[in-house]
Amino acid sequence: MRLLPLSMVEPGMRLGKKIYNSEGLTLLGEQIELTQSMIRRLESHGIDFAYIDDPRTDDIIVRDLLSEETRVRAVTEIRDSFRKIADDQLRRKTSGQVQVGKAFRKLMEMIMSDLSDHRDAMIMLTNINAMDDYLFHHSLNVCVYSTMLGIAHGYSQDELMTLGLGALLHDVGKTQIPLELLRKKDRLSDEEFSHIKHHTSFGFQFLKDEPNIPLLAAHCAFQHHERLDGSGYPRGLKGEEIHDFARWIGLVDSYDAMTTHRVYRKAMLPHQAMEILFTGTGSLYDKQKIELFRDKIAIYPIGVTVTLSTGEKGVVVDLNATVPHRPVVRLLQDEFGQDLDGSREIDLSKSLNVMIVGVSGEMVVS
Ligand SMILES: [Fe+2]
Repeated sequence: MRLLPLSMVEPGMRLGKKIYNSEGLTLLGEQIELTQSMIRRLESHGIDFAYIDDPRTDDIIVRDLLSEETRVRAVTEIRDSFRKIADDQLRRKTSGQVQVGKAFRKLMEMIMSDLSDHRDAMIMLTNINAMDDYLFHHSLNVCVYSTMLGIAHGYSQDELMTLGLGALLHDVGKTQIPLELLRKKDRLSDEEFSHIKHHTSFGFQFLKDEPNIPLLAAHCAFQHHERLDGSGYPRGLKGEEIHDFARWIGLVDSYDAMTTHRVYRKAMLPHQAMEILFTGTGSLYDKQKIELFRDKIAIYPIGVTVTLSTGEKGVVVDLNATVPHRPVVRLLQDEFGQDLDGSREIDLSKSLNVMIVGVSGEMVVS
């Protein structure tokens, strides 16, 4: 299978990997032959990429980090709890009435167990599914990324639990912000933006007294928009004043927001988002964290179509763990645009004179 932007997907192509709806259930199954109306339906769900079958890339299998059971449980748990919290606040009950601690701990155990089976895996593009409920999916993605990085960093099980809970609940305060504000397409006014910023303190207020939630996880909600140089919010904390867990979450939060389709723009590809994050090294994010993230993330995920500096086009078939930006590419088109049979591969970690200059039709180097 190979990953194509939806704009390049045509009727008659077969789906190489199933697509989940926003409940975490199957929207379109593997091997389905796509029709124009199915493609339009994917578009309307905000899906920007799909894995497509191609006989020359039959051997490429992209494994999910989470099992289907964990994914469905996670989406359901996050959605139901967040809705209950929003309702409760509306009815002006005390915030302590919805207790999410136990259920979220159980969920974190499932996530940690799934991820520890893939501890050497790279983080692949996860946003290929329907994202109608951005907040719930974003919370899960940020948790998966943070936990993967936490494992790579060497945190203990207890620390991973706290980091993961902080990540799952980092944006819980958004349940107190009107949806029309969160989904607004136009530029926010200063007043609207300062209202949205309150989601950090709302989250802290809710989580700090919540049974079974560590106080540190509440601080992750409070601090995840703080930045090293003091330019963040709500308190303008600097450097060491911001807890390491909140810094991890802040980093992957920005990455996931960029690589997800939003009402006001399409999803960026991993290398584009990574490049933007890198411009914040030392000022917004710490160097070591960004570097570990770069090493764990598949900038050119398996299955993605790339254009090489030789003019040839191909598909990423394997990742080099030590040099993730130089994968193995199977050539599918020569420099004249003629189709190839897929029998030739080039390992960019060895052919150092060849560069990736484009991904999925977008140019990396102009
Ligand atoms: Fe946030």
